[in-house]
Amino acid sequence: MIVVFGSVNVDFVTRVAALPAPGETVSGPSYAVMGGGKGANQAWAAALGGARTVFVGAVGRDPFADMALADLVAAGVDLSAVTRTDAPTGAAFITVDEAGENMIAVASGANLLADPASLLGLGLGPGDTLLLQGELSAAASASAAAHAKAAGARVVFNAAPVSGFDASCLSDIDILVVNASEALAVARLLGTPEADPDAAARAIDAAGTACVVTLGGEGVIGWWSGVRRKVEAFPISVVDTIGAGDAFCGGFTAALDRGYGFSGALLRGAAAGAAACTGPGARGGSPDRASVERLVGATAL
Ligand code: RIB
Repeated sequence: MIVVFGSVNVDFVTRVAALPAPGETVSGPSYAVMGGGKGANQAWAAALGGARTVFVGAVGRDPFADMALADLVAAGVDLSAVTRTDAPTGAAFITVDEAGENMIAVASGANLLADPASLLGLGLGPGDTLLLQGELSAAASASAAAHAKAAGARVVFNAAPVSGFDASCLSDIDILVVNASEALAVARLLGTPEADPDAAARAIDAAGTACVVTLGGEGVIGWWSGVRRKVEAFPISVVDTIGAGDAFCGGFTAALDRGYGFSGALLRGAAAGAAACTGPGARGGSPDRASVERLVGATAL
């Protein structure tokens, strides 16, 4: 079982020619409203990856809540531990440029009320994985990590954004997943500043937590017990990169859940991230198990 304790948002996505600079206004022709939130996106991708998945989080009592969760229902994610609160459902305001790059501002809303006590009835234990991100309160995620670790479950933390990551809980985390800038930031928090993400991941691994760095078009690096793995990026035609890191996390943990080792899971996470970039929005691509294995098989030939 994979339990995702994390955020759920409704995403407002606008395509523009170029991303705005500070103080600049840019215009796009229209906008789309879609389900999002790093936690919900990761739960969706884990379920499509074939894992029994439970999502734990908080939404409002507004119409955005059901819209944000609809894809998870369709993917078979267990939502019985999602709480409804009086705060508004989280929302993300996203601009995407012609190359598919994005900028995101999030209004957290109900996500800040997600309660780690909701994990208590789920029976997390050995063989299970708790998957966390940085969009809840850092204290809530740290408490969830401590609970899962004490229960013998595997803990995977995607420190995105780093502001939602409490470095003092690193000893409760088995695998940290970060992008390049997050890798540098976490290494700084640990008192081991490094100049490049690969060295930062190595330092984090040396501190006792395996570390994965997603590098977009440069692929993925993973450090585990002093050994480095590199997975090259899959050749795909990018629609946008929204949620690529989330699909990586979902596909990666789903592969671990199916019994793959670190290297096999890195490969499948990278394939899921690539598949997610081939459709619009955070849940627009198809990081399902069949698509992932097709990409992995095509690469192996
Ligand atoms: O990682 C992409 C996600 O970040 C979006 O779905 C948005 O909601 C923000 O949480």
